[in-house]
Amino acid sequence: MSRYDDLRTRVRAQTGIAPSILAADFLRLGEQIAAAEAAGAATIHVDVMDGRFVPNLSLGLPIMRAVRRGTQLPIEAHLMIVEPEKYAVAFAQAGADIVTVHVEATPHLNRLLTAIREAGAMPGVTLNPATPLVMIEEVLPLVGIVLVMTVNPGFGGQKYLSGSTERIRRLARLRDTHGYDFLIEGDGGLDAETVGEATAAGLDLVVAGSAVFSPPASVAANIAALNAAILPRGVRTV
Ligand code: DX5
Ligand code: ZN
Repeated sequence: MSRYDDLRTRVRAQTGIAPSILAADFLRLGEQIAAAEAAGAATIHVDVMDGRFVPNLSLGLPIMRAVRRGTQLPIEAHLMIVEPEKYAVAFAQAGADIVTVHVEATPHLNRLLTAIREAGAMPGVTLNPATPLVMIEEVLPLVGIVLVMTVNPGFGGQKYLSGSTERIRRLARLRDTHGYDFLIEGDGGLDAETVGEATAAGLDLVVAGSAVFSPPASVAANIAALNAAILPRGVRTV
């Protein structure tokens, strides 16, 4: 069983937290990842930004290799870059178990997802808040993860976009209707306030940067607070 099959089994049983290291203290990155792992995080989320697809620069292959040395958890590379076909396989080779690409960034999504799978990683697809879900409908049978952006990508610490909840609910219904196998992940503005409605709508995996790595509370206490605010799918939140 590959690491990501195990992830699927675990996350199906319980909603998982995916700490985004974008908000970590980079001087203490190894320590902070170890703390997240000890606190029961499901995956480690690595945000890759190129200053073109999104208006910010962040992390690249050397950090991915270092994170790989620092954890046993599955690692997701979230590629917020133009021409992701140039780097997706390199991220898999550098240790990413899941490589997630934006539908807006490539004209050959089917080919790219297949290349990621052939490189031994789980293919993930993601879409910006203004991109209709129908844009990824054809590739849903090919992916292990659909990452629903719940903010406009590019920066940590933004506010959860309220329309996201309905998008998560629609995607979960689409999965039920067709019997697809992907996990649903949300990214951006997820904290103890917003995670309840997002998980009730159908999130399996919760990406959280500021809500995990912001002091003064410890990483363990922050993850515990998020876990405590998670609601089961289907619970009414309004
Ligand atoms: C945003 C990134 C996120 C970001 C989330 O473009 O994809 O993963 O780190 O940060 P928070 O949880 O602080 O909104
Ligand atoms: Zn991300």
